[in-house]
Amino acid sequence: MTVAITGSGQGIGLAMAHRLAAQGANIVISDIDADKAAAAASEVRASGASVISVRADVTSADDCTSLVAAAVAEFGSLEMMVCNAGIVQVKPFLEVSADDWNRTMNVNVTGTMLTMQAAARQILTQEAMGDGRPKGKIVAIASIAGRYAAGPMAPIIPHYRASKAAVISLTHSASATFAPHITVNAICPGLVETDMWKLIDEQWSAVEGWETGTAWKTRTSAVPLGRPQTSDDVAGLAEFLASPASDYMTGQSINIDGGLTVG
Ligand code: NAI
Repeated sequence: MTVAITGSGQGIGLAMAHRLAAQGANIVISDIDADKAAAAASEVRASGASVISVRADVTSADDCTSLVAAAVAEFGSLEMMVCNAGIVQVKPFLEVSADDWNRTMNVNVTGTMLTMQAAARQILTQEAMGDGRPKGKIVAIASIAGRYAAGPMAPIIPHYRASKAAVISLTHSASATFAPHITVNAICPGLVETDMWKLIDEQWSAVEGWETGTAWKTRTSAVPLGRPQTSDDVAGLAEFLASPASDYMTGQSINIDGGLTVG
């Protein structure tokens, strides 16, 4: 199996690359930052996996097409695309400008759409992965922020929340479009300890006049499972979605948040 992961130069994307490489998948690490992608690829390759890195900005249709072409040129086929690249910005509702809105939507929604299209165009040309199996899989990284209106973060990331709701909706449309050949599901993580959350913490603390670190501590103390979420926690679900055990699942958005949304 060959898996391409956008925005996998660090964070959740890189953790998924490690997990899936450990399962024997060929890995295509892709990021808008070529150096970061190359360094991440070396890190995963050190475990003995077959890995290439490709610079791709998901907001460019040409880059998404080239990313898929590079995967096929190196490994012969593409069985799974993880649409993971995303950005966030903390700003109160009334301060979000059209540029803020468009930047977030462009990466998180347009980027996911273009990546799904590029992957599907390739996967549909391939044979099934095995008897009774689909030809391939697409996994989008959405967020619990795209599903629930409640919580203290609701007023401060309206554009991010709207973008992740759109990713969930795209997942529905894509799953209906590409069945029975490609399964399409979304992962909705909670509060994951990555650079993205460091940025949220800094920006949120600045908005509220808190000390840096307060937003993270306050939010993670509300997680019923009693600890912050790691990127590897999210990667475990990606591993399941890559496996035959999930072959009958499509069009779903799955929360993995330590119980935050039910606690
Ligand atoms: P991160 O900020 O650590 O990593 C994101 C990566 O995406 C970076 O390497 C960055 O260079 C890359 N990137 C940014 N714009 C890009 C573009 N236009 N094209 C290609 N690559 C681009 O973020 P993290 O935390 O690993 O997040 C990954 C995904 O998980 C995102 O979609 C995020 O919205 C989602 N998520 C994260 C949560 C968290 O708490 N960290 C919670 C829920 C969802």
